[in-house]
Amino acid sequence: MAAAQASNMKKFKVYRWNPENPTEKPRMQEYDVDVSGIGPMVLDALNKIKNDIDPTLTFRRSCREGICGSCAMNTNGDNGLACITRIPDTPEVKIYPLPHMYVVKDLVPDMSYFYKQYEYVEPWLQRTDKDVPEREYLQSIADRQKLDGLYECILCACCSTSCPSYWWNQDQYLGPSILLQAYRWMVDSRDQNGPARRVKFQNPMSVYRCHQIMNCTASCPKGLNPGEAVQKLRVLMSKD
Ligand code: SF4
Ligand code: SF4
Ligand code: FES
Repeated sequence: MAAAQASNMKKFKVYRWNPENPTEKPRMQEYDVDVSGIGPMVLDALNKIKNDIDPTLTFRRSCREGICGSCAMNTNGDNGLACITRIPDTPEVKIYPLPHMYVVKDLVPDMSYFYKQYEYVEPWLQRTDKDVPEREYLQSIADRQKLDGLYECILCACCSTSCPSYWWNQDQYLGPSILLQAYRWMVDSRDQNGPARRVKFQNPMSVYRCHQIMNCTASCPKGLNPGEAVQKLRVLMSKD
């Protein structure tokens, strides 16, 4: 018979706030978790806490494989997806919601304004000609390759919520995630609405609050380069 696995206790400090008790300040709650018998990721530890210790702990998750973006949060100071972030090798692990966002409950950030900003950039194919092909709009291999590094974005907001400019000017600056999405449509050879898209950004705040510090790129769990996308968008704007 296989020997029982030795226990490996780790302390987790998790941000808690309950909107049903709005006068109570947010607090950090401690949980001692035996991580020996669970998967290696932060989400595995959170699931262990919720299933076995405290069912009131609230967080979002769905795919548990880095695709849906819903488990974005901050672990030991770094934004990432809990389902693909390894439990850190530190004596205690601190878990917070994404920084500088309103909180719905515990680790769940309010993404409403982020999605409004996404809507603002009209993230869909726009054509001005009325010739609709019988099948799909075709694209050369070279033009299709221009979308690599952009279409993979899962809108997790890890980049935007690590961006100091987005922290301080979130009401007007669109942030790296949404600007990467905007750029993705502006460089799509099938889209014909580039000039109108650019007009929306001709103001001092929507795009030009980026100061090229590149926190965004360092935090992207999909290995994308939203900081570069913002710079390329600015180059496109300068051609008007
Ligand atoms: S490079 Fe621009 S978008 Fe990225 S973190 Fe810095 S200011 Fe924000
Ligand atoms: S660019 Fe990366 S960090 Fe930013 S929203 Fe997309 S996947 Fe998330
Ligand atoms: S649960 Fe979907 S990205 Fe983590």
